[in-house]
Amino acid sequence: MKIQDYNFAGKKAIVRVDFNVPIQDGKITDMTRINGALPTLKLILEGGGALIIMSHMGKPKGKVKAELSLGQIVDAVSKALGAPVKFAEDCGKAQEAAKALKPGEVLLLENLRFYPEEEGKPVGIDKEDPAYEEAKKAMKASQKEFAKTLASYADCYVMDAFGTAHRKHASTAVIADYFDADNKMLGLLMEKEVQAVDAVLSNIKRPFVAIMGGSKVSSKIGIIENLLGKVDKLILCGGMTYTFAKAHGGEIGNSIVELDKLDVALGVEELAKKNGVELVLGIDSVCCTDYDFATATVKDGAKVEVFESNKIPAEFEGLDAGPKSREKFAAAIKGAKTILWNGPAGCFECDDFTPGSRAIGDAVAEATAEGAFSLIGGGDSVACVNKFGLADKVSYISTGGGALLEAIEGKVLPGVAAIQG
Ligand code: 3PG
Repeated sequence: MKIQDYNFAGKKAIVRVDFNVPIQDGKITDMTRINGALPTLKLILEGGGALIIMSHMGKPKGKVKAELSLGQIVDAVSKALGAPVKFAEDCGKAQEAAKALKPGEVLLLENLRFYPEEEGKPVGIDKEDPAYEEAKKAMKASQKEFAKTLASYADCYVMDAFGTAHRKHASTAVIADYFDADNKMLGLLMEKEVQAVDAVLSNIKRPFVAIMGGSKVSSKIGIIENLLGKVDKLILCGGMTYTFAKAHGGEIGNSIVELDKLDVALGVEELAKKNGVELVLGIDSVCCTDYDFATATVKDGAKVEVFESNKIPAEFEGLDAGPKSREKFAAAIKGAKTILWNGPAGCFECDDFTPGSRAIGDAVAEATAEGAFSLIGGGDSVACVNKFGLADKVSYISTGGGALLEAIEGKVLPGVAAIQG
């Protein structure tokens, strides 16, 4: 069913959104995901439906954690929607609250991941334990029950959580089994995101430049290898820089490194060479002797200096791309016709380490003004673009991080497959 064709009048719709938004001191610091879901939510309300909104936040692993309660975002959602929002403190026991909903009313369910059934992974038992397989089977059965309970709240199901569409969870996929084809559909955000990925993949205008940041090569290796079969240039920045520098015997001081992935880094370089892809790595770094990650500040008395990325003194840690790297990145982005950016170049939350990501953002905006299609995904890169005021100077900002990368890899997302079969 297409959401545009569905008659919501008098119906209750349960909508899976991704409201896993960043929160600092009780305040939402980036509204991209909430704003992204608004067209779908408003369409349902304006069509005479009642809304049951459900989401996860963070990774509570089946436990109730006050700091991950969706209760904290009720006011923000209400303000964004322009409608009062009721809150169900137990997403698994919201039958009465759902039943009482009238057309135009909105109910937000508590964090789905407070129930281990949402993810469907057995808790408190090791994979090596002989009883694990049994526990897994039992959990799969309770996951179905949980999905069935969620489904029982509504007449129709709308999947609009692109950011979580790569997860085969109770609320993103299993629940769809409890609705017939005429009563389940993708939301408007999902449609838009899938189209944006298509715009990149089906009609790649060259040069295609991808920029991947982030601290670990290991967590991005799948997408890096995949991109090496698609792009003309691949910029690798952020903490990954130091695993590459170390792989060539560089001195990286206290910088983040994956010592067991040095061969992976060398393999990436080899594959790039084989595929004729220009691999662009940073050459210098802005480093610090004592950085507080929790508060994103340079500690009192700490030094901030620039070094070549393979000659970092022992007491320093690389935290951003240095001036030569920034120039190199900007030059690689210039003239691109398709751009994918995921992951910042440094600890952009702190002004001392913003320039690397800023240089990338500016270069992406400039290339976009000259006709490139630029797709930005992943919470941190999106936060960068918003922080630098570049949101309207790029082609598309995705609400997905991992989901976007899997879609770009060409994988079918479980959240899409559950609806489309
Ligand atoms: C995200 O932030 O990427 C999504 O909300 C998915 O979260 P997850 O990686 O914890 O499943």
